[in-house]
Amino acid sequence: MPNKKFYITTPIYYPSGKLHIGHSYTTVAADTMARYKRMQGYDVMFLTGTDEHGQKIEERAAAANTTPKQFVDDIVDGIKEMWKLLNISYDKFIRTTDPEHEHAVQKIFEKLYEQGDIYKGSYEGLYCTPCESFWTESQLKDHKCPDCGREVKPAKEEAYFLRISKYADRLLEYYETHPDFIQPESRKNEMINNFIKPGLEDLCVSRTSFSWGIPVTFDKKHIVYVWLDALSNYITALGYASEDTSKYDRFWPADIHLVGKEIVRFHTIIWPIMLMALNLELPKKVYGHGWLLLEGGKMSKSKGNIVDPVILCERYGVDAIRYFLLREIPFGSDGVFTNEALISRINSDLANDLGNLASRTTAMVNKYFDGLIPSKKQASEFDNDLISMATATKQSVEKSLDNLEFSTALVDLFKLISRTNKYIDETAPWILAKDESKKPILSGVMYNLCETLRIISILLTPFLPYTAKAIQESLGDFDIYNWEDSDKFGLLPDTATIKKMAPIFPRIEMEKEIEALNSINPGASTKAENIATISQISIDDFAKVELVAAKVVACEPVKKSKKLLKLTLDDASGSLRTVASGISPWYKCEDLIGKTVIVVSNLKPATLCGVESNGMILAADCPDDTVKVIFLDSIPAGSKIR
Ligand code: MSP
Repeated sequence: MPNKKFYITTPIYYPSGKLHIGHSYTTVAADTMARYKRMQGYDVMFLTGTDEHGQKIEERAAAANTTPKQFVDDIVDGIKEMWKLLNISYDKFIRTTDPEHEHAVQKIFEKLYEQGDIYKGSYEGLYCTPCESFWTESQLKDHKCPDCGREVKPAKEEAYFLRISKYADRLLEYYETHPDFIQPESRKNEMINNFIKPGLEDLCVSRTSFSWGIPVTFDKKHIVYVWLDALSNYITALGYASEDTSKYDRFWPADIHLVGKEIVRFHTIIWPIMLMALNLELPKKVYGHGWLLLEGGKMSKSKGNIVDPVILCERYGVDAIRYFLLREIPFGSDGVFTNEALISRINSDLANDLGNLASRTTAMVNKYFDGLIPSKKQASEFDNDLISMATATKQSVEKSLDNLEFSTALVDLFKLISRTNKYIDETAPWILAKDESKKPILSGVMYNLCETLRIISILLTPFLPYTAKAIQESLGDFDIYNWEDSDKFGLLPDTATIKKMAPIFPRIEMEKEIEALNSINPGASTKAENIATISQISIDDFAKVELVAAKVVACEPVKKSKKLLKLTLDDASGSLRTVASGISPWYKCEDLIGKTVIVVSNLKPATLCGVESNGMILAADCPDDTVKVIFLDSIPAGSKIR
């Protein structure tokens, strides 16, 4: 058994209805980490499950005229089906109705009571039923629940309390001595400033107002507060407080609890304090990721604006959906899901870049060499650049994955994919193939392409397991697809026979598909350009854009177009620049001549209605559907803008 271990968890989900794409987001991320660590040789425990107790479930079951257990059983089956579809490789699925869990929670409650960390009192406060949380007046936002924004009701109950206040100082000290405990950093400050510094009050940990939960053994009219019950899953799933604690001994403390940002508070205040009281080690990291939003706000079953991952997987394949979730939004931030963004990603990255590379390469080896793997000989002046990038990508992917930066890891991996496509253009195999004397060069080019594809397939495995497997099946069944093989070049043996691959991600016809998708996911029918506002770029990316002030010295309408004006700009570079701009519905030429505008000066030239445009002028899309050019006052032409 490997001596390195890795324990990762998702939150356990409420089986109060169908899960949506937001829930898949956390689980796909956790699955990617679990697969990555397994490939690195870790003994991995990946836990997910369902959080089945509480008033909300009791009420839903009553409304459906069934028992809570029957109600959740059906939903849990659906959740497991969904994880199967999304290729989630969990090692254990815990249900808080599992007898072993219930028993262990009772033991935990008893222990804390016996040692005085839980005591009996009475509770008066403001209760949010959907969140099952009591709040104090000062914690409310606009007199409503700070988590979900709904009404809270005054409530009073005889109850048991956990002595949270006793542990506040120890908790703060733990944060200080373990700077990686809460990630991203901003969430830590939020916990300290909004919750701990204002003073932690003891937490009410039992309920008597409903009965669907785990009874307190020594006072049966009380049931254990659902968050105490739920948080304990991370250790009860390992056999804590059972007869067999071998898994607990091996895997606790957890390496990462992945949670959405709204439940960071439970995981970084209540959970560590429970563990301190139990005298157990604390998890190494709690990572609070952002939300997947729709333009209209957070997805929610009650608003009826959820996006169903099952439908998307059926239409585009599981790996396309996994890719979108992991690539589109930096993990710590919120991001907007739109149908347009999904289709654009599939078309540009998967169909164009990855899919094309795989099908072109395997088709060419078949066309030129009947699928037989050609020689490894040095082929072209471009080899070294390709090989050094291919062998360096592992390290950058690892660095990003270790920081849970899934999007950056994929950006790096897709840079290699683009580089490899460029290598095809540079070496032009179809030209080499016309000249028999160039056969050895062609053979080397083909080898380099197949070998880079092998490396790409390994690095792709944690993210897109099916696609990676399909590539490997085409390259042949050899022991060369291990993680540690992904920074070595030249492992593909000469006995390989490459199978031609069908396009793995067929290109989607954007307009037609968007129309279909908008009727399935109406909440996600946002304009593609809006998505740009939520993905983050680094300062280096921004620095690539050259902006310069330029004076409009001439202007004329473009004859073949209803919208375009042809502008001649003086940017003080010594030669004039022509730019075509779609602003004629809003501007006449005389409004523009003599004005200074901002131009993106290093944009690739494009021919628009017969005019070669060398750049783009900046303008604002205003809420009243007009476009306003950004004019500069008192800035000389030629000034660089940053
Ligand atoms: N049962 C609790 C967790 C207990 S863990 C000891 C719970 N369940 S939940 O089903 O409501 O949410 C589970 C997870 O899904 C949370 O981490 C939540 O942030 C995440 N998401 C739910 N909707 C989401 C999005 N729209 N986007 C991203 N994640 C979202 O909370």
